[in-house]
Amino acid sequence: MCGIIGYIGDKQAQSILLDCLKKLEYRGYDSCGIAVAAGGVEVYKDALRVEVLGKESPRFDGMAGIGHTRWATHGEPSQVNAHPHLDCTGRIAVVHNGVINNFQALKHQLTSEGHNFVSETDTEVIPHLIEKYYDGSLEKAVEAALRDVEGSYAIIVLVAGETKLIAARKDSPLIIGIGDRENFIASDVPAILDYTGRVIYLEDGDIVVVTKHNTKIRRDGTEVNREEHKILWSVEEAQKSGYEHFMLKEIHEQPRVIRNTLVEYTRATEPIADLAVMRDAGIESLLMLACGTSYHAALIGKYIVEELLRTPVRVELASEFNYYSHTLAKTIAIAITQSGETADILKAMKKLKEAGCRVIAVANVVGSTASRIANQTIYTRAGPEISVAATKSFVAQLMVLYWLAMSYSKADARRLANLLVELRQLPGKVQQVLDDETKIMEYARYLSKFDNVFYIGRGINYPVALEGALKLKEISYIHAEGYAAGETKHGPFALLGSDTPVIAIVAKDKTYEAMLTNIKEIKARRSPLMALAEEGDDAVEELADSVITVPRVDTMLSPVVNIVALQLLAYYTAKERGCPIDFPRNLAKSVTVE
Ligand code: M6R
Repeated sequence: MCGIIGYIGDKQAQSILLDCLKKLEYRGYDSCGIAVAAGGVEVYKDALRVEVLGKESPRFDGMAGIGHTRWATHGEPSQVNAHPHLDCTGRIAVVHNGVINNFQALKHQLTSEGHNFVSETDTEVIPHLIEKYYDGSLEKAVEAALRDVEGSYAIIVLVAGETKLIAARKDSPLIIGIGDRENFIASDVPAILDYTGRVIYLEDGDIVVVTKHNTKIRRDGTEVNREEHKILWSVEEAQKSGYEHFMLKEIHEQPRVIRNTLVEYTRATEPIADLAVMRDAGIESLLMLACGTSYHAALIGKYIVEELLRTPVRVELASEFNYYSHTLAKTIAIAITQSGETADILKAMKKLKEAGCRVIAVANVVGSTASRIANQTIYTRAGPEISVAATKSFVAQLMVLYWLAMSYSKADARRLANLLVELRQLPGKVQQVLDDETKIMEYARYLSKFDNVFYIGRGINYPVALEGALKLKEISYIHAEGYAAGETKHGPFALLGSDTPVIAIVAKDKTYEAMLTNIKEIKARRSPLMALAEEGDDAVEELADSVITVPRVDTMLSPVVNIVALQLLAYYTAKERGCPIDFPRNLAKSVTVE
C-alpha cells in the first residue's frame, strides 16, 4: 500500500526523501513523487520506479519535503494521480495513505466554491480543504480539514514558507523518527532506519507538528506525550545482506527465527498468553482471524490447538468476518497479522472488542495498530519482513501457535516432551531443506513452463497446500490453486491433464493412504505429479514423477519443513520466469484498505 515520508532538518531534503522512498518500495506501489519546500513548493511525480524518478527529477534546493509511493485505489497510476497533491495556489502539498470515503461530496462542494481539481484521486480534496480553512494557522486549517473528512488517512502536509510539517493519522500507520537537528515522518520503520532508530508511534486522532528541533502531538485540541521507542532491528536486518532478493534472505533466516523464538519462550516464566481466563469465564472455544498467509497459519493453528488443547477452534477470514452476525461475547479471539496494519483485521478486532471479547494479537511489527487494539499482543520474533511474499513471519506465527497450545495442552507429558525435543531439532531440519535446494531448483525450471498448477494436501498439510499455491501465484504469476486433496474429485479433476501439474504434500500420518490413492487417481488423468514427501518414502518415489524430500519430523511440525521447500520452489520458479520477486505486480506488503 501507499508509503509516505516527510523530512525536515538541516540537510538537503530531496536525496533523503528519495532514499527513504526506496526503503518503502517493498510495500508495493505503481507511482511515486516528492515535494520540496524550495521557496515555493516544487513537485516531481510520475508513474515510475523511485530510482527512475530520482534520476529524472530536477534538483530542488530545500531542507523540508514530503514523498509518496502510491498504490492506486482512485484513478489509474499516472503522473496526474501520483502524490503529492496540491491546492489551487500550488503552495500546499499533501501526501496521503488511506481512503477518503466522502471525497465525492467534498469535491462537489469545493468545486462549487471555486476549487479546481486535476486528478481522479480522493486525496486531492485534502489540500483544497486546508486551503479553504487556512487563515494564517496551518495547524487549525489541518484540524478543520480533517473534521470534514470521513475515512482513513495518514497524511503529511508541506506548505511553502512554513518551517514545519504537519502530519495526522486515523486508521493508517504513521511514525515519527527523531533525529539530531532533523526529524522524519513515515509510514513504516524501515524507511528511516538508516537515519534514526528513535521512533514514536502515532495513534488514531493524533495531529503532529514537526520542526527540525521538535515534535508536538495534539489530540482533541490537547497536547499529549507519546513514548519514544528504540528500534532494535539493525539496518542490516532490513537489508538484503548479499542475497539477490529479500525473499530469499528471509527464507534463509527461518532456522534462526525458530531458534530465537524457542530460546525466548523456554526462558520465560509465564505462558505467552493468558488463556487461563478461558476457564474462569467458561469460554469453550477459540476464534482465529487473519488474512492471506496469516490466515493459512491460523488454519494450521486449528489443527495444533484442537489436538493439544482439545478445544474447538473457529478460523475466519477477517475480510468476511466483518459481514457475520454471530453472538461473539463468549470467545477469545486470536488475530494473526504480520504487519498489524491490515485493514480487515483491525476492523474485525474492533468489532470483537465492542462485543466484549478478549482479543489477543499475534503480530510481528512492534507498536502496530493491532497491538494497540488488542487486550494482549504476542510478538512474533521474525524481525523485519520486507519481501511482499510472507515467509519467515508465517513460520514465526506457527511457532507462537505451537507454544501457546503446548503451554495449555491437555496432552500427556510424554507427548509434550517429545514435541519439545522435535521443536528444538526443527532449526536443523529446516536448514537441511535449505541446504538441499538443487532438486527444488531443477523442479522449478520445469514448473516455470506451465500456466496452471494444483497443490493438494490433507489434514494439517491442507493449509500448507493453500500457502504453497499462494506463494507461487503471487511471485511467479502462475495460476496456482491449493486444494484439500479429498475435494479434488468434486470439481477440479475436470482440469487435470498433461498441461496441469499437481504438487502433492504427503505426510506419513493418518492421511497417508488416502494421499497415495489421490496420487494414483491423478496420475491416471496424466497430470505430471510432483510429491513433497519425507525422506525414505519408497512408495511415493515409485508413484510420483518427481519427488522433493524433506526430513522426517512429527506430523504436527511437518507444515514448517514442507512450507520452506514450497517457498523455495515458488522463489526459484519466479526467478526462472524473470519476475520482480520482492515487488510483485499489484501487490502491497501491508493492505491498509478494505
Ligand atoms: O500483515 P498481515 O499478516 O495481516 O497480511 C496479511 C496478508 O496481506 C499477507 O499475508 C499476504 O497474503 C502476503 N503477501 C502473502 O505472501
